[in-house]
Amino acid sequence: GHIKFDYTNAMIQPHEYTNLKKQVELAHQMLHEGNGPGNDYIGWLDYPENFNREEYERIKASAKRIASNSDVLIVIGIGGSYLGAKTVIDALSHTFYNELPKEKRKGPKIYFAGHQISGTYLTELLEMIQDQDVSLNVISKSGTTTEPAIAFRVLKKALEDKYGKEGVKSRIYATTDSENGALRKLANAEGYESFVIPANVGGRYSVLTPVGLLPIAAAGIDVDALMAGAAEGMKEYGNPNVDENPAYQYALVRNVLYRKGKAIEALVNYEPSMAFLSEWWMQLFGESEGKDGKGLFPTKLNNTTDLHSMGQMVQDGPRHLFETVVRVEAFEKDIVIESDALNLDGLNYLSGKTMSYVNDNAFKGTLEAHLDGNVPNCVISMSQKDAFTLGKLLYFFMKACGISGYVLGVNPFDQPGVEAYKKNMFRLLGK
Ligand code: PA5
Repeated sequence: GHIKFDYTNAMIQPHEYTNLKKQVELAHQMLHEGNGPGNDYIGWLDYPENFNREEYERIKASAKRIASNSDVLIVIGIGGSYLGAKTVIDALSHTFYNELPKEKRKGPKIYFAGHQISGTYLTELLEMIQDQDVSLNVISKSGTTTEPAIAFRVLKKALEDKYGKEGVKSRIYATTDSENGALRKLANAEGYESFVIPANVGGRYSVLTPVGLLPIAAAGIDVDALMAGAAEGMKEYGNPNVDENPAYQYALVRNVLYRKGKAIEALVNYEPSMAFLSEWWMQLFGESEGKDGKGLFPTKLNNTTDLHSMGQMVQDGPRHLFETVVRVEAFEKDIVIESDALNLDGLNYLSGKTMSYVNDNAFKGTLEAHLDGNVPNCVISMSQKDAFTLGKLLYFFMKACGISGYVLGVNPFDQPGVEAYKKNMFRLLGK
């Protein structure tokens, strides 16, 4: 599976690209020599080759155990501790995965919790799982994040009531720091199966670590292929030659556009199963770059849906936006539009055409329209939607993000601003 980056419609001139090349080369040096800001958080860089194989096998074995004794796996985490897993599961599983009968699913139903503080959500989740066998994967690097901690306390109690204090222990999987935090203490004290979030990998760069891998494997997705794709990405996007490195070109072009006054980048898709990728990408770039008063504001457009809501704004609103389209080139599943004798709906001009052909022309037509409207467009194409290519795409974005942050002049690996709301909330709650 390949990833291509096309910036022919980014509305930048060749010299603008050339002028920023040196900065990208310098960013490459800083990242690979490990002497840039945040260099104690670059464990993700060579992770696709240097991960812990013993633990990796234990993840696969745990996924099997969950599938054998559970109807439902609840994944508890927030931010970097859930976005990656949900992205991959959404992209690669059946659209109605949780609604499929058991024999048509490759694993338990997967639900997420602890990514907000809603009592309604958790109450209704508890209602829904009442008569089902459940396992929990609680994921928190710090082990102290309020949202997942509350959800875990509630769900653990519900499971204890059902399986008993001992019985519940074989249904809880904890993914956290190797030494620090309340969750590590709890996991050690209770003897839960546990996995390590490497200290040198931040949440938003952790999708390929146990953080993402256990839920992804539990959903029956081929994690070997995902990791192999990431490893290929690691090689390809480690190429210091910007002209041969699409991830570096993406980092470069978005920095040119930022400096030309673009304030917003929308990640656009034409495929609902790829929509959540934008959420993961928004955290990755938003949390990496939004600091020191700088950074592109990352947002998303789900097409063609949003062409009927946000389309007007993109076409004719303020010109502070550019788009990066993630395009899937070939689909396994498709529908041919058949001809209809009466043609009352007037759709016979599409007879014999596939829906993906129509969708692709919607993409092309939109691209043309937005260029007419002065909205620069970058296109990232993935050859197909499978585990290998997605693994490569995730690595593409992480690599591009690290480089882009260095070119912007920020530390792309810290997130001091995330603490501000917590301080106030804790004060108000009397912690
Ligand atoms: O990227 C980040 O640091 C955050 O989004 C965290 O992933 C999020 O706050 C969850 O943190 P933790 O895994 O410590 O519970």
